[in-house]
Amino acid sequence: EWTDAERKAILGLWGKISVDEIGPQALARLLIVSPWTQRYFSAFGNLSSASAIMGNPKVAAHGKVVMVGLEKAIKNMDNIKDAYKQLSMMHSEKLHVDPENFRLLAECITVCVAAKFGPSVFTADVQEAWQKFLAAIVFALGKQYQ
Ligand code: HEM
Repeated sequence: EWTDAERKAILGLWGKISVDEIGPQALARLLIVSPWTQRYFSAFGNLSSASAIMGNPKVAAHGKVVMVGLEKAIKNMDNIKDAYKQLSMMHSEKLHVDPENFRLLAECITVCVAAKFGPSVFTADVQEAWQKFLAAIVFALGKQYQ
C-alpha cells in the first residue's frame, strides 16, 4: 500500500524528527486547541492555561511516550493494524478515549512538524505521505472499538 516515494518521504521525515521536541509540543497543542481532551489527563496536574500546559512536565513526558509509540508504525509499516492492536484495546477498554481524539492528535503532530521544518522540507508530497501514514495509525488505534 506504500509507494517507494511515500516510504522514502515518511522514513526521511521521521529521521529528522526529535521525539523529545515534537512529542511534548504536539500533546500540549492537543490539550490547548481541543480542551475537552484534558479530561483524560486529570492526573497530570495543572492544565489551567496554555503556559501551564506547555510547562507541565507530565504533559512533556507523555508527549514523548506517544511519539515513541509512532515508532511502532515505522518499524511495522506493512502491518500497522496488528502492531497497534494492544494499544487500541488499551485506549478503548481501559482509558475510554474517544477515537475521534486520535485524529485530532495526528493533526497537532502534523502542524508541529510543518512548523518545525517549513515548506522546503515539509513539501506537499511529504505532507501527502505523512498524513497517509498518520491516518493508518489513527485507523489502527480505532480498530478495537466496537
Ligand atoms: C497512554 C500512544 C493518542 C490518552 C499511551 C501510551 C502510549 C500511547 C504508547 C502508554 C501505553 C502504556 O503505558 O502501556 C498513543 C498514540 C496515540 C495516542 C500512538 C495517537 C497517535 C491518545 C489520545 C489520548 C490518549 C488522543 C487522549 C486524548 C492516553 C492516556 C494514557 C495513554 C490517558 C495513559 C496515560 C498515563 O496515565 O500515563 N498512549 N496515544 N492517547 N494515552 Fe495514548
